[in-house]
Amino acid sequence: MANPRIRTLTWWRKWAKRDWAIAAVGFTIILFALTLLFDSRNPDLNSTDDLVPLTFLHRAKATGAFCLDGSLPAYHFQKGFGSGSNSWVLHIEGGGWCNSIESCNYRKRTALGSSNYMDQLVQFSGILSRHPSQNPDFYNWNKVKIRYCDGASLAGHPESEFKNGTKLFFRGQLIWEAFTDELLSLGLSNAKQALLSGCSAGGLATLIHCDDFRDHLPKDATVKCLADAGFFLDEPDILGQRTMRAFYHDVVQLQGTAKSLHKNCVGRMEPSKCFFPQEIVKNVRTPLFIVNPAYDFWQIQHILVPDASDPHGYWSRCRLNIQNCNSSQIETLQGFRNSLLKALSELQQNEEVGMFINSCFIHCQTLMAETWHSPRINNKVRNVFIIYYGDKMIVFRIYHDSQNKKF
Ligand SMILES: *[C@@H]1O[C@H](CO)[C@@H](O)[C@H](O)[C@H]1NC(C)=O
Ligand SMILES: *[C@@H]1O[C@H](CO)[C@@H](O)[C@H](O)[C@H]1NC(C)=O
Repeated sequence: MANPRIRTLTWWRKWAKRDWAIAAVGFTIILFALTLLFDSRNPDLNSTDDLVPLTFLHRAKATGAFCLDGSLPAYHFQKGFGSGSNSWVLHIEGGGWCNSIESCNYRKRTALGSSNYMDQLVQFSGILSRHPSQNPDFYNWNKVKIRYCDGASLAGHPESEFKNGTKLFFRGQLIWEAFTDELLSLGLSNAKQALLSGCSAGGLATLIHCDDFRDHLPKDATVKCLADAGFFLDEPDILGQRTMRAFYHDVVQLQGTAKSLHKNCVGRMEPSKCFFPQEIVKNVRTPLFIVNPAYDFWQIQHILVPDASDPHGYWSRCRLNIQNCNSSQIETLQGFRNSLLKALSELQQNEEVGMFINSCFIHCQTLMAETWHSPRINNKVRNVFIIYYGDKMIVFRIYHDSQNKKF
């Protein structure tokens, strides 16, 4: 497994220069590639049996539900077995957004905008692992990884496409609908329990489509949603500029995503504000679980300290490694953490919402064996948090370093 992982790395690094929305994912991969390379005592983890082939979404042709470049969307599916036969866990891939013709044109020549570039095999680990030791609650469920190829969290609309020769397909909403139909036909329509999850931009997609997902499933099914590292904050950067709000504004304008957002919100405020999770969750009726680090790697690099707001590079070492931050920078980071807790505070009163907010300097945590269910990290004794919520269908076993603060 070492070589493909390293290749992925260099690819991500180049990508980061072209599309600022990606950088942190690359660093997360670096971190965990290293952990995996040095972790040979888990023979289970990298078995080739865990590689799941790519399936094209052929039905998308009929409704024109295409990726940015016009190719067919795709997914990976592993059938459930035993007591998991009627249970489903879906995971929507992440990968930032594109906010301009240039960045979407770039993206459409990558796996995040075209199925022509997607890996034919992906490893199912973390919440998608088929090993009871790695994934005790979901290992035998039907598992689906939805590939992300529209650049707007599955919320673009064709009315916003250009009619002048700029060939970009904004079909995110149609892609979501085509996936729903496909999975219902594969057996999701008989689900007894189902969990829609996603990481980063896929976590945002999870929040946007959570209720729609619920509405397609049997009334007596237990249905929940899990957004991993998808709680992007509407916060000013270190210079006080609204970098993230401006970025989302451009994404929403370019791809017409307002039509996928809740009417209660877009009727009351500027539609791009409704693309922020803190507004989306106000209208979600389905039980939700939020997993987010308080010092989210991606958010620190792109919302709090975007490149343009640190022209002299005072933050260049700190934003890559929290160990390099001085006391005033740590204070700024803690302010950002407080903003997250504040944005979540209303949700804490909601019985249908559960959350796990830790202090790791990380981005997504549910797909990686080490952060999802690891027997040991740095050979230290684990704290075990078993989190129940709602009607207690899902047990979140999260093992983490005792130094991490949980709130
Ligand atoms: C099409 O229109 C958009 C928006 O007005 C513009 O930015 C773009 O350059 C145009 N493309 C071409 C090929 O003329
Ligand atoms: C921390 O670093 C920043 C940026 O280099 C600097 O402006 C600030 O004065 C430093 N603070 C302390 C307490 O050293």
